[in-house]
Amino acid sequence: MTLLDGKKTSETIQQEIAADVAEIKANGGKVPHLAAILVGNDGGSVTYVTNKVLACERVGFGSTLIRYEDDVTEDELLAKIEELNNDDEIDGFIVQLPLPKHINTDKVLEAVDPKKDVDGFHPTNVGRMVAGLSAYLPATPAGILQLLARYEIETKGKHCVVVGRSNIVGSPMSILMSKPNYPGNCTVTLCHRNTVNLAYHTLQADIIIAAVGIPGLITAEMVKEGAVVIDVGTTRVADETRKAGYRLRGDVDFDNVAPKCSFITPVPGGVGPLTIAMLLKNTLRAAKREVY
Ligand code: GUN
Repeated sequence: MTLLDGKKTSETIQQEIAADVAEIKANGGKVPHLAAILVGNDGGSVTYVTNKVLACERVGFGSTLIRYEDDVTEDELLAKIEELNNDDEIDGFIVQLPLPKHINTDKVLEAVDPKKDVDGFHPTNVGRMVAGLSAYLPATPAGILQLLARYEIETKGKHCVVVGRSNIVGSPMSILMSKPNYPGNCTVTLCHRNTVNLAYHTLQADIIIAAVGIPGLITAEMVKEGAVVIDVGTTRVADETRKAGYRLRGDVDFDNVAPKCSFITPVPGGVGPLTIAMLLKNTLRAAKREVY
């Protein structure tokens, strides 16, 4: 069994990006600049956005963090998005999700200029991805593709079972794994929380990508010997022995599943760190006008 070290892979990608930025600076080019909008004080979201901003500093990007209280109005958010769309200093920006219930998330995401949509959430980028056109790919699925590629995992003709159908991970992941590229070229089954007899499907899988947010859902009996298992789950579960009072648990029962696998990602230190690396990569592509 080989542990897929997302932390190390993320560091390698960030070093590659930092080298690119150094070259841009040496040539007097525009230094990439990422902005992030964060609404409210949800612990997970604050941590994610803080890490994104710190990562920008590490690779030499400019960064701007814009924070609002939970009671920000939709109009205020839309006005800020319009401002960022028109700000030439900002190459790309993200609106951290989830947003409070009184805000229409679809409307907010659609207001982002697709050319600056480095999260790849705008319907234009989703559509371009589905059509196989140049697009910003959402960071977590893109990070999983990087992990498969950099560990040279064979995917052609394999059966990939994606568990979870979110717009952020499961749905785009299933599309990307079906495309005739490497990594991809798989036969894909998309399962979700209403799938009947999930184990029947996961047992057929050469590659399982679990992204439902149900800790420990994928148990050893549900996994074929030699499977590749990618765990996207990062649910906070109470743990009094930790200083923070919680620990992160994946969707996979790691201790019992790992011995059956050819490759598996840990939680934490698997897919998570790659999401940030790929967001930076998208921002670099935005600054270089590589996508549009
Ligand atoms: N919430 C969970 N994952 C993500 C992500 O990749 N981007 C944004 N903006 N919000 C998220």
